[in-house]
Amino acid sequence: MAQSTNKQVIVISGGSRGLGRGIAEQLMASGHAVATFSRSKTDFVETAQAANPDNFFWAPLDITDAEALKLFVNQVYQKFGRIDGLVNNAGATLDALLPITTDEEMERTLALNLTSSMRLSRLVSRVMLRQQSGSIINISSVLGVRGFKGVSVYGATKAALDGFSRSLARELGSKKIRVNSIAPGFLATDMTHGMAQARKEQIERRTPLGRLGEVEDVAGVVEFMLSDAARFVTGQTIVIDGGLTC
Ligand SMILES: NC(=O)c1ccc[n+]([C@@H]2O[C@H](COP(=O)([O-])OP(=O)(O)OC[C@H]3O[C@@H](n4cnc5c(N)ncnc54)[C@H](OP(=O)(O)O)[C@@H]3O)[C@@H](O)[C@H]2O)c1
Repeated sequence: MAQSTNKQVIVISGGSRGLGRGIAEQLMASGHAVATFSRSKTDFVETAQAANPDNFFWAPLDITDAEALKLFVNQVYQKFGRIDGLVNNAGATLDALLPITTDEEMERTLALNLTSSMRLSRLVSRVMLRQQSGSIINISSVLGVRGFKGVSVYGATKAALDGFSRSLARELGSKKIRVNSIAPGFLATDMTHGMAQARKEQIERRTPLGRLGEVEDVAGVVEFMLSDAARFVTGQTIVIDGGLTC
């Protein structure tokens, strides 16, 4: 296992499964500490808690609960004494044509994908401002970069996250805090599990690299963007989609 000489403390929202889990595993394998939360506990969380209690922290919470989020950030700071990176990863798709989308669905998607990430960024940026350093990564999507039928509300939340990254990068740059978006293409996770086989094959045909993405394809870029190697990169949206949108 490659151990980093420069251990970082990274907060990841929704690190119990899917992409968040993959990012957590990659960062811990490099010797970093990870603090994460989700509504339900998974076997991965159970194992990481037992195997790596000094470098892994998990709390059960719903990201749309503002008080619980505040308590979580305080707990992370108490445990680790600093926060070097934040990955706003928790999110959910809304696959629905707009004319039949309900207010409740719209509001839930905005609260989960957008408002809660902005709120968590606000909490963590206060810690980073005291440290005068940090890196924030917003996980957006190719659906925020290009239009696709049936995902207008989801796509709007992801495009908004990209805009959030750009302006926040300008706001925090002088304090050596970087803010970027990472926009994955279609990944093989629970989120795309229910997608029709014909749709998956269509995406593969339209992708120059000829396949759906894997969590590992994205996790490595997240690690790079959190690292000092990316110290002059801020306010950008990095698309990782095998060329689907090129
Ligand atoms: N999969 C793709 O093809 C794809 C493509 C582009 C972008 N993305 C983006 O990548 C991110 C991760 O997607 P994924 O595919 O890994 O999703 P996933 O497999 O469904 O995992 C989502 C994670 O977020 C947590 N989460 C969901 N709702 C939450 C809530 N209200 N409060 C706290 N935690 C919550 C989940 O845990 P609990 O359910 O237990 O709370 C889980 O840990 C999302 O922002 C997504 O939009 C995904």
